[in-house]
Amino acid sequence: MAVEITEEFVWQSIPPRARDSHKGTFGSVLAVAGSAFYRGAALLAAEGALRTGAGIVTLASVEPVVSAAVTRLPECCLCPCKEGAQGGIAPENVPLLRRQKATVLLLGPGLGGTAQSVARAAETRTLVQQLLPGFAGAAVLDADGLNAAAQLLAEGEPFPHPAGELVVTPHPGEMARLTGLSAAELAADREGAALRYAKAWNAVVVLKGARTVAASPDGRVCVNPTGNPGLARGGSGDVLAGMLAALLACGLPAYQAAACAVYLHGAAADRAAAKRGEYGMLPHDILPELGALFA
Ligand code: APR
Ligand code: MG
Repeated sequence: MAVEITEEFVWQSIPPRARDSHKGTFGSVLAVAGSAFYRGAALLAAEGALRTGAGIVTLASVEPVVSAAVTRLPECCLCPCKEGAQGGIAPENVPLLRRQKATVLLLGPGLGGTAQSVARAAETRTLVQQLLPGFAGAAVLDADGLNAAAQLLAEGEPFPHPAGELVVTPHPGEMARLTGLSAAELAADREGAALRYAKAWNAVVVLKGARTVAASPDGRVCVNPTGNPGLARGGSGDVLAGMLAALLACGLPAYQAAACAVYLHGAAADRAAAKRGEYGMLPHDILPELGALFA
């Protein structure tokens, strides 16, 4: 049985902000996210990162997403990207994205790809293949970024890995695509599966769902006791991905960042549920509750 993440562990892992700190102390997140079809995912991820302490958050996305971010998130730096024929971030943006200075790369929320368009899946795959291995810092790979990695694995390619630590955040469907395991096989041993693939991919695996599991390549594994079924709606995962990237940018090692992010995400969602109910709460209601937790 894996240990449960505790509130004590979280506040021991997240240091107070030193009086003489500056924005560089808390790193910079480059979020490569969103497409013409999924604009909100990128905004939720960027705000998740902003509300979890990153020094700088830059959102790289297609014009409609960037335009929305200007009004919704004035603190966010923006990197407008050319839109591909399928509404995604075109692969020709790779040199521009490589030039962005960031300590943490978040790749995946809202990029689009699997069900909607084979052509967009190819665009996302090129982004993952060309951005992740060359990245100097730590990275979070989420959502369609994971589906792209699943395609690469199926073609016999290695799991794409940055120079720093990698965190992957699959929900059970994405984990099944990555591993070839059935939903039933995964459900039967979530901790075992997370640990096995953490070692295989040299990545911290965050296997999401009720009682999210976080597993480290070095054998540590923990289970999150917070959160509720109000999170079971599109957008919750995007907020988590941004939070995780921010904690990496603040300097937490990947396993601690993952454990703290899932705990705080669930705890904030529990506060949102207390106010609006599991039926009435929305993923963006998590964001102000993070502030209450940090305060
Ligand atoms: N209890 C606690 N937490 C839960 C529960 C539950 N019953 N159900 C879901 N959650 C949490 C998960 O642990 C995770 O943190 O909510 C989050 C859901 O994340 P995702 O499944 O990644 O959902 P999200 O990305 O927001 O959904 C949008 O996912 O599969 C793709 O293509 C799909 O575009 C869609 C996208
Ligand atoms: Mg998701």
